[in-house]
Amino acid sequence: AIDIDKLRSATGAITIDPGYKNSGSCKSEITFLDGEEGILRYRGYSIEELADKADFLEVSFLLIFGELPNKTQLEKFETDIRKYTLVNEEMKTILEGFPKTAHPMGVLSALTSALTAFNPKPVNVDNENELYDAVCKTMGKFLVIATWTYRRRMGLPLNYYDNTKGYVENFMRLMFEIPTEPYKMDKRIVDALDKLFILHADHEQNCSTSTVRIVGSSHAGLFASISAGVSALWGPLHGGANQAVLEMLQEIHDNGGDVEKFVLKAKDKEDPFRLMGFGHRVYKNFDPRATIIKKAADDVLDALGVDDPLLEIAKKLEKVALEDEYFKSRNLYPNVDFYSGIIYRAMGIPVEMFTVLFAIGRLPGWIAQWKEMRSNKEPIGRPRQVYMGHTLRPFKEVKDR
Ligand code: ACO
Repeated sequence: AIDIDKLRSATGAITIDPGYKNSGSCKSEITFLDGEEGILRYRGYSIEELADKADFLEVSFLLIFGELPNKTQLEKFETDIRKYTLVNEEMKTILEGFPKTAHPMGVLSALTSALTAFNPKPVNVDNENELYDAVCKTMGKFLVIATWTYRRRMGLPLNYYDNTKGYVENFMRLMFEIPTEPYKMDKRIVDALDKLFILHADHEQNCSTSTVRIVGSSHAGLFASISAGVSALWGPLHGGANQAVLEMLQEIHDNGGDVEKFVLKAKDKEDPFRLMGFGHRVYKNFDPRATIIKKAADDVLDALGVDDPLLEIAKKLEKVALEDEYFKSRNLYPNVDFYSGIIYRAMGIPVEMFTVLFAIGRLPGWIAQWKEMRSNKEPIGRPRQVYMGHTLRPFKEVKDR
């Protein structure tokens, strides 16, 4: 008989760390995060300052290329992204193959992957110009196809990028402009959305980013890696939480607004329900993004004159949970997703598009991390395991089983 313990020890020392709670997968110069102190910085700049003073494309450039762009670099970046916003006509046929009821995140992941068919040449990461083009191409096409997932769902004709408008303005236009009337751009909405994209732009080795890095580590292309990131982000424990939060708030509202009942439910270990938008793998203190977003929610709803009962429920829920021993002892605070959905809703964004907005915001982070991983010539990601199954056993014919 085989000695399983001997066999296991023969594989050498392996660290078991489910969920990689304590394992670093890489060295990175992109994002600094201190979960105990609630600090988040992109390339050394505080998230608070960037959200206040920079715009999304500036921050994207910073994350991807390491420095804030000067005026010429920024204008060139915008122009070069614009050049790549045309999407191959055959992509439309693929889009039309999806039922209108398909979740936009599933469609976005599939369309991003489909872009590999139209861009088959692998990017030479050692060639700066090629890499720069690949970055601009991804930023341009991803935005357009992300909005197409919505247009398909609504049965609306597809819109094309307007070269006279900015990136975030184009998002709103691409989503909402209908052929019969010009779209009225609301600067307050564009500014708030820009800020939300900045807050979502990177968050070091979270689930979707680690996915992008690990898929890319096999030298799969940028579109294929980003497509995998979209799939990872979709889950309700990650980016999908922003949709889940709003659905939860709505449910609380429809049940008479009894937040205490839902807090009790979240504490019940027999019940799988969790307070969506609460808790974080790394933050054991306030998520600094949540603090900015909470204030933005108040400002945006005020400015737009929206009185949303769900905002009141969210505030009450936060207060009750923060005073509760269960949440206190586990350091469970509101995360980035807790208030973002309320802002999106006030902007007229449908709930099933919330996670797509997260993906648009996170795109520069994914690209930056993919680029860093390839530039550092990191090895293929390949974790080990400790085998716990059967030792060798003889095969039995079907008739004998
Ligand atoms: N509601 C109730 N209890 C919770 C919650 C919650 N939202 N989050 C964590 N807990 C409890 C767990 O049950 C566990 O309790 P125990 O010690 O008694 O077993 C303890 O807090 C620790 O939780 P873990 O699941 O071990 O923490 P982990 O780091 O693995 O998970 C996660 C983090 C996934 C974010 C979790 O807090 C969660 O599910 N939150 C709700 C979903 C959510 O908002 N996700 C968005 C995260 S932010 C982002 O991805 C952009």
